[in-house]
Amino acid sequence: MLLNKTPQIAGFAGTITAWQKQHGRHHLPWQDTRDPYRIWLSEIMLQQTQVATVIGYYQRFLSRFPDIASLAAASQDEVMPYWAGLGYYARARNLHRCAQVICADWGGRFPGNADDIATLPGIGRSTAAAIAAFAYGERGPIMDGNVKRVFTRYFGIEGITSERATEQALWRTAEAVLDAAPDSLDMVAYTQGLMDLGSQCCTRSRPDCLLCPLQDRCYARAHGRQHELPTPRKKKASPERHCRMLVAHCGGHILLEQQASPGIWGGLWSLPLYDSDEDVQHACRRLGAGPAAQKMAGLLHVFTHFKLHIEPWYMRCDEAPLTETSPAQRWIALADLPATALPAPVKKILAGLFPAPD
Ligand code: ADE
Repeated sequence: MLLNKTPQIAGFAGTITAWQKQHGRHHLPWQDTRDPYRIWLSEIMLQQTQVATVIGYYQRFLSRFPDIASLAAASQDEVMPYWAGLGYYARARNLHRCAQVICADWGGRFPGNADDIATLPGIGRSTAAAIAAFAYGERGPIMDGNVKRVFTRYFGIEGITSERATEQALWRTAEAVLDAAPDSLDMVAYTQGLMDLGSQCCTRSRPDCLLCPLQDRCYARAHGRQHELPTPRKKKASPERHCRMLVAHCGGHILLEQQASPGIWGGLWSLPLYDSDEDVQHACRRLGAGPAAQKMAGLLHVFTHFKLHIEPWYMRCDEAPLTETSPAQRWIALADLPATALPAPVKKILAGLFPAPD
C-alpha cells in the first residue's frame, strides 16, 4: 500500500546525526583529521574492505607516503607493496594516478569540493561527497552499500540497488533528506552516522532493530521485511578457474613475475602462473634442468566474480641458475619478500614454505 511507504523524511538526518554523536564511532584513525589526502586514502581503502583490515594498511601507507607529493613522486612499484593483500588493486593504481593528476593539474592541492573531486580517476559521486563532507563539511548525499541498505529498508525502496532506476530513486531520496534538514546539520556526524548505522546496526543478515534510532518509522521493520530489503540480486554461480603456480627456489631466491595492468593482480609480483602440468614442467626445464617440480597442497582463492583453484608446485635447486623465462620475471631474495607486493594467496604459499623467523 502506497501509504505505508510514505517517505519518513522529516527528522531523518537529525536523528542519524544525534545517534552518531552518542553511539557512533569516533576514534578511527581517519577521524582525527580534516586533511583531504588522509580522508581520501581512508575512503578508497574502505571501499571494499572492512575497517579492522584497513587500519594497519592505512597507517603503514601514511608513514611511507605522508602527503600527495610523496605519493606522486613514487613509482607504482614503490606503492604496490603497501597495498598488497588488500585486494582490488585498481584502487591503488588509481590512487597513484590521482596523486600525479593533483600535482600536475591542481598545483598539488587536493580539489576543494565534491564536483571537482569526482573528476579524479576512480572517484565516484559517493566517495567524492564523503571526502568533501569529512574534509570540508560540504553538504551532499552519499550512497555506498551500507547506506543503500539503510535507505531501502527505512523508506521501503524496492528493486535491485545496482540497477539504474533503483539507484536514481535512492539518490533522489538522499537529496530530499538533505533538502529537509536544517542548514545547521553537522555533515561530518551525519555522513559518518549513515556509515555507522549501516555497518553496526542495520547489518545485512542480522539487523539489530532494537538499537536503531529509526526503528519506530522504518518501513522494513513495520512490515517484517528486513530480510527482503534491499531486494536480493539473483545469484549467478561463480565461475571456477584453475591455475598452477610454480615456486622455483634456487640459491635463496624465488622466481616472481610482475602481472600486467589492468588485470586481477596488475602491478603485483606473483609466482609464475601456468595452465597445465606440462607447462610447469616445461618451465622447470627452461629454468635449468633442476629436479622435477612437486605438487603441493592446493588452495582456493575467492574473488568477487570467480573462484580460483590454485595448485602450487615446488622446484628447488641449490645452485642458482638465475635465468628468467620471460622479461616480466625476476629472482627475488627470500629476505626481500616482505617488501615485495605479493597477492594474498602467493603470500600464503610462501609463508607456509618459508616461515618468518621469530
Ligand atoms: N566506510 C567507508 N567510509 C568509512 C568511514 N569514514 N568510516 C568507517 N567506515 C567507512
